[in-house]
Amino acid sequence: MFTKELLKKKIIIITGGGTGLGKSMAQRFGELGANLVITSRKLEVLEETAEELRTSGANVLPLQCDIRIPDEVEEMISRAVGEFGAVDVLVNNAAGNFISPTERLSPGGFKVIVDIVLNGTFNCTLSAGKEMIKRGGGVILNIITTYAWTGSGYVVPSACAKAGVLAMTRSLAVEWAKYGIRTNAIAPGPFPTEGAWKRLVVPGLGIEKKMKKRIPLKRFGEQRELADLATFLISDGAGYINGEVVTIDGGEWLKGAGQFNDLDKVPSSAWKLISKRR
Ligand code: HXC
Ligand code: NAP
Repeated sequence: MFTKELLKKKIIIITGGGTGLGKSMAQRFGELGANLVITSRKLEVLEETAEELRTSGANVLPLQCDIRIPDEVEEMISRAVGEFGAVDVLVNNAAGNFISPTERLSPGGFKVIVDIVLNGTFNCTLSAGKEMIKRGGGVILNIITTYAWTGSGYVVPSACAKAGVLAMTRSLAVEWAKYGIRTNAIAPGPFPTEGAWKRLVVPGLGIEKKMKKRIPLKRFGEQRELADLATFLISDGAGYINGEVVTIDGGEWLKGAGQFNDLDKVPSSAWKLISKRR
């Protein structure tokens, strides 16, 4: 689909790059010649992923960082610049999520998700953005989801935070275009990953079957499909795309918004058990 050296020498930071969709994007960008920085809280996971990615010849720097903490983010960006000399692309992919009736949430439960998804995205965008401004350009790609604009019951903290990231995407697309920075987003529908499934697809509730049934294409996304879309959006070929959100969901949200609204049917006794799953 792409020429082999499409991303040659591009310096790309992927938050949450050790697992799931972040890892798949890293894999694809690496195959196409990029220098990669993958970052998240668990260094062991990052190091294992880095080893795997290096088998395709990519340069990979795994860096531990909790994106909720501005000082750690500053340090991560400065180490990335120290290693590779610049930041060309930032992919804000890291997230936290769980399902819960809103009335069962504590303020801490709301805060933890908003801190990771919205504040964490801002922290990375600010630090990497300053580097891009210094250098005269760059690309920011935010991974959101379709309920950023439709909303969804049972994932209210995530919906609120992703809506904020959508607003950030469109705002900076305008404000930072003058610095040569393009800002876009991808809104995936369901893509099976260990992290998302563990927290959102609780066994015994038939969630997976219902999710698939709602998708007009009648299947989940393949991680490679999302990685290819991300590749296009960060590449120079997409140089005039700025402020866009590309949905990749098999038509899901158009058929019925809010992936988790159906959880209305879960009996209240079950939520006590579900909330213990971490
Ligand atoms: C209710 C919960 C809860 C749950 C945690 N909390 N899990 N409340 N139900 N299931 C509350 C706690 O009680 C606590 O509140 C607060 O949240 C912080 O909890 P911790 O366990 O201390 O947080 P932490 O260890 O920082 O872990 C963060 C996490 C965890 C978000 C809770 O799940 C995580 O690390 N997630 C990272 C990866 C992830 O979530 N991936 C999925 C992305 S999928 P108090 O009041 O006690 O302080 C995705 C898909 C979107 O986004 C769309 C799909 C279609
Ligand atoms: P995942 O594997 O759980 O990815 C989340 C990543 O975020 C993990 O690597 C995690 O690593 C990292 N992370 C969490 N908290 C962090 C923090 N405080 N600081 C730094 N890193 C942190 O799940 P995924 O399915 O691949 O999700 C990737 C992205 O796609 C997310 O933005 C998600 O909202 C979005 N998305 C996924 C789906 C889907 O169906 N899979 C659908 C729509 C949108 P550590 O635990 O090591 O920190």
